[in-house]
Amino acid sequence: MKAHTHSRAPFEELADRVSALRSQMSFAEAAAKALEEIRPWQNFSMEELVSEIAASGTIAKQQDLDSTFGNPAVTLAHRGDFHVQLLSWRDGTTSIHEHAFEGAFCVLSGASVHTTYRFESDTAPLAAVMGGSLRFVNTELLEPGEVRSISRGAELIHSVFHLARPSISLVVRTSFDDTSRPQYEYVDGLAVDSFRRDALELRKLQLLDLSLDCYPNQQEKVVDGILASSSAWLAYRVLELSALRLGSFASLRHHLPALKAKHGEVAESFERAVLSRLRLANIVNRRCIVADEEHRFLLALLMLLPDRSSVLELVRERHPDLDAPELVVRWLRELAAKDCEARWGPNPLGFEIDDAAEEFLLCILLGDSIETAASKASQSPSRQAELALVVPRLSLLRPLFV
Ligand SMILES: [Fe+2]
Repeated sequence: MKAHTHSRAPFEELADRVSALRSQMSFAEAAAKALEEIRPWQNFSMEELVSEIAASGTIAKQQDLDSTFGNPAVTLAHRGDFHVQLLSWRDGTTSIHEHAFEGAFCVLSGASVHTTYRFESDTAPLAAVMGGSLRFVNTELLEPGEVRSISRGAELIHSVFHLARPSISLVVRTSFDDTSRPQYEYVDGLAVDSFRRDALELRKLQLLDLSLDCYPNQQEKVVDGILASSSAWLAYRVLELSALRLGSFASLRHHLPALKAKHGEVAESFERAVLSRLRLANIVNRRCIVADEEHRFLLALLMLLPDRSSVLELVRERHPDLDAPELVVRWLRELAAKDCEARWGPNPLGFEIDDAAEEFLLCILLGDSIETAASKASQSPSRQAELALVVPRLSLLRPLFV
């Protein structure tokens, strides 16, 4: 019984400490400092917390009752204008996003790959959709005990990929969102207002979704109809939703010239952004059929990192005693040997890897050029040509060839 009254106590203590500290410093600094002092990851047991709340007659005032972020998102302490929120992650990966609140977060159990970016806009500032360059800044492995601050707006643009199932994180945050600027989600080439609530636009998207699902003969007519009078934001959303549902951008490409003529420079980024979304969706979906934490780690790196050297750097950080290139190839081989439902392809990777392809990838990871790697991997000129042509084009493996 004692455990049942105890496991929420550190979170109340944490909230009290934030209340005490915030008069001396910014809220984000107070949240980070309080997390480092109270160290809520120590002795944390999610099972114990679940049992306690299951048997309890009370709970703190809840934010995000529908658990739109975190599955579930449970408020553990509430102090009016800020709260302490526990987020449980099973297969969810956060998109690349910014925040309309400030605070700090940490991992309570499991581990997450945390990636930060910056965005250089080259179209109208604060529009519902902005074109620009999304630049990779840093990736790190976050484990219990590491605290990161959250600042409002574009100062912190990040994504978090959770390795363990579940991973549990804790956020100390202000309760009310700053609505003075759109809250952007980012994709390669675009910043998109993710909380835009134009009733007609949202209903059009929902009806397009219905059409894509149930009225395939009408899809084109519906897409044409919406695009003819759409804002740039809605045009992008239509292309993105259609491509994700169809699994391809090919049948949508013919809309681009008219969209560029109508919406100007921002539409130049639509194709790049949709292709990037398709690639990420493919990896996120595959991650759902992969349970092994090391394999999920590899998928996280392939999804998030820009190039081979950053992939290898993070593998070395997690496994300093092992040979990073060999480990990556071993994980790929293990994934290629697993069974999965036929709709995912021959294995969870979606493509076969034979001995020559393994050798080819190992040489690439060791720094060889595509031509040299192919010649080392096979004696046969036709097989060499095939390796050099096919493997670098596999979208899942793209960072290994940069
Ligand atoms: Fe975040």
